[in-house]
Amino acid sequence: MTAQPQAAPPSPADAAPALVARGVTRTYGTGAGTVTALDAVDVDIARGQFTAIMGPSGSGKSTLLHVLAGLDVVDQGSIRLDGTEITGLGDDALTRLRRERIGFIFQSFNLLPMLSAEQNILLPLELAGKRADRAWMQTLTSAFGISDRLSHLPSQLSGGQIQRVAIARALITSPAVVFADEPTGNLDSHSTDEVLDFLRLSVDEFGQTVVMVTHERDAAERADRILTLADGRIARDEDLRGDR
Ligand SMILES: Nc1ncnc2c1ncn2[C@@H]1O[C@H](COP(=O)(O)OP(=O)(O)OP(=O)(O)O)[C@@H](O)[C@H]1O
Ligand SMILES: [Mg+2]
Repeated sequence: MTAQPQAAPPSPADAAPALVARGVTRTYGTGAGTVTALDAVDVDIARGQFTAIMGPSGSGKSTLLHVLAGLDVVDQGSIRLDGTEITGLGDDALTRLRRERIGFIFQSFNLLPMLSAEQNILLPLELAGKRADRAWMQTLTSAFGISDRLSHLPSQLSGGQIQRVAIARALITSPAVVFADEPTGNLDSHSTDEVLDFLRLSVDEFGQTVVMVTHERDAAERADRILTLADGRIARDEDLRGDR
């Protein structure tokens, strides 16, 4: 077994953005009740960066995350994820893409209660029909401090350990992009800091690309970049890398 950590920083060949969205429009409803959740959004998400999406309730944050991740369709526009145009892909191709190239962290962390921590982390690989990369599993679980909890069920884990298992699960396939919709929304300040620390570690140590929706300015400021939405458009784009 070669202990090949999948932590290489992005090479120049990887300089193309992880995500390129152009003219992305998503409306809901018809007639007088039509809501334009996204209004011709253009955005590039660079590889190996931590991007936060902020904005008032109803500004389109979740819709943007969902369309970028291929979880929701667009009415107009183009989205290239890791070089693949995802608008117009069929269900099977989209399912495969989500399994193999996208990681998700949900607000409730969504571990399966009947599976051990290890089985939860490996689940995305199993669903994709891929063999577990033991070296990567060890790298991740030791970085997240959960190596000695792998046989435990979620009910036997602390809240912080559950969060770490959920983040490790999102990284196990080395996806092109990890998406998180308000991952700290239900957490106290200590747990929020911990989740943000582990998301930062995913970016800084493992070169991951992370896109996180959050309401909290403090949380967003842990990212490299903050996109602020208003009425379905990007109203502000802040680069925070110089501030560190
Ligand atoms: N399935 C849907 N059907 C109809 N309208 C929807 C649907 N999903 C979202 N919308 C509308 O689209 C707009 C954007 O919603 P979205 O969920 O993206 O906002 P958000 O910024 O994530 O808000 P919040 O901070 O409250 O989570 C809102 O006006 C919302 O009511
Ligand atoms: Mg939302």
